[in-house]
Amino acid sequence: MAPVIPKRRRTQAGSPAGAAASSASLSGRFPGVAIYLVEQGMGRSRRSFLTRLARSKGFCVLDVSSSAVTHVVVEQTSAAEALCWQEQKMVTSPSGDTFSTLLNMSWLTESLAAGQPVPVENRHHLEVTKPRKKTPSLVVPTYACQRLTPPTHHNTSLSEALETLAEAAGFEGSEGRLRSFCRAASVLKALPSPITAMAQLQVLPHFGEHSSRVVQEMLEHGLCEEVERVRCSERYQTMKTFTQIFGVGVKTADRWFQEGLRTLDDLFKQPQKLTQQQKAGLQHHQDLSTPVQQQEAQAVQRAVETVVSQTLPGATVTLTGGFRRGQLQGHDVDLLITHPQEGQEVGLLPRVLDCLKSQGLILYHLHQHNHYKDPAHLVRHNPTMDGFERSFCIFRLSHPPEVAVGWPQKPCKAWKAVRVDLVVTPVSQFPFALLGWTGSRHFERELRWFSRKEKGLWLNSHALCDPGQRKSFHVTSEEDIFRHLGLEYIPPEQRNA
Ligand code: UTP
Ligand code: MN
Repeated sequence: MAPVIPKRRRTQAGSPAGAAASSASLSGRFPGVAIYLVEQGMGRSRRSFLTRLARSKGFCVLDVSSSAVTHVVVEQTSAAEALCWQEQKMVTSPSGDTFSTLLNMSWLTESLAAGQPVPVENRHHLEVTKPRKKTPSLVVPTYACQRLTPPTHHNTSLSEALETLAEAAGFEGSEGRLRSFCRAASVLKALPSPITAMAQLQVLPHFGEHSSRVVQEMLEHGLCEEVERVRCSERYQTMKTFTQIFGVGVKTADRWFQEGLRTLDDLFKQPQKLTQQQKAGLQHHQDLSTPVQQQEAQAVQRAVETVVSQTLPGATVTLTGGFRRGQLQGHDVDLLITHPQEGQEVGLLPRVLDCLKSQGLILYHLHQHNHYKDPAHLVRHNPTMDGFERSFCIFRLSHPPEVAVGWPQKPCKAWKAVRVDLVVTPVSQFPFALLGWTGSRHFERELRWFSRKEKGLWLNSHALCDPGQRKSFHVTSEEDIFRHLGLEYIPPEQRNA
């Protein structure tokens, strides 16, 4: 894909021209002064404008926060919010002391007017009342893509309760309720400590009446009656059982439920109702409902890598999904395949599958041709769908010898069925695919929503587009995408929203 990003944007942070500008300005006219402008609260275009203006006057303005920064300038951000960024390591202050380095806009405007950095005085500091150490940041950013969410957190039973209600809402096709519960659960996952009192909820985004009531009951009684009722209900249990089968979505599960089917046994007795994919899913159901371990995911990746590099030297295989986010277990293995030379990847997947089959590694696979002509078209017309060439597989993964040896008394199978998705992407779309396939699902949903609502840009696993200008952005990394969106970069291990 030709880079169709407008000239104006090419000179921004992250692009080669932007990098050149920033390294040139590193040696600004004023040694010992390196400014970092926090985009949060300032906005992308104002930040670009101020950066250009300051650089034109000889100031050193850095694109990214680093230990070289001496003056961090923040606009329209409350003290608590600034502290929250600090706490989430969004703003790295060189000395580690937020209060001496976070400056308000007055310092920059006075310095620009004076043509040189003015001495920092008290009035230049962000007006903050330093919160007591015991009450960490209570201001949590609205969107999950603005927060750090590690693989494990401090509010598991609360978030699981809310996610049960989200899942149940999804089974009934209630997208709005699904989203509300997911958002509330996701906020809890980003908190630095457990919720122990209702007062703590008051400052959190996305806690409406319903989610608050669930938390209140859990805090008071250790259980929420509604959640327990849902978990025990025939409807929820059946829908959960059915949707966990490979190849079964909510619509199919609901149809079967309406037809009176309730259990896996019911399905075994009605094979005419099943697709080939669902039959394979049922056949290997026990293995497929056992979590995939990190070592198993790595073993699958190695096996695919070997075959891919034999088939097309230079092609790469990247482990994405939950494992890239630092999760130790998952329901499947998500692998992205690409080649540094655009076009070389065409025709690769069927040859790789043939080779894997000849090695006895494939129990089942379903090939899906790519269905995108123009990624920008796809992102405009179907922002959530992705159209990569893809193979939905069930691998036959041999147990490592030590596992077989470890179970001498129990005759066990020497292999395990593992769900694997192989996805092929042209290298120009690779950063979008990597970002889209790393997840979590909620993180992706929020990222797309943020792009659209806050930036007027449309994002999916193929492209980032400016629909007004009919332009799509050329990127070479995930960092580039975050930069174009005016977001601080969130590493994969912190995207467990
Ligand atoms: P998964 O469903 O595999 O989730 O999708 P996961 O986070 O790896 O967790 P496990 O596997 O249940 O443990 C991984 C990511 O890939 C994207 C989703 O956005 C999700 O975040 N994805 C998945 C797609 O873009 N398209 C798909 O068809 C499937
Ligand atoms: Mn996965």
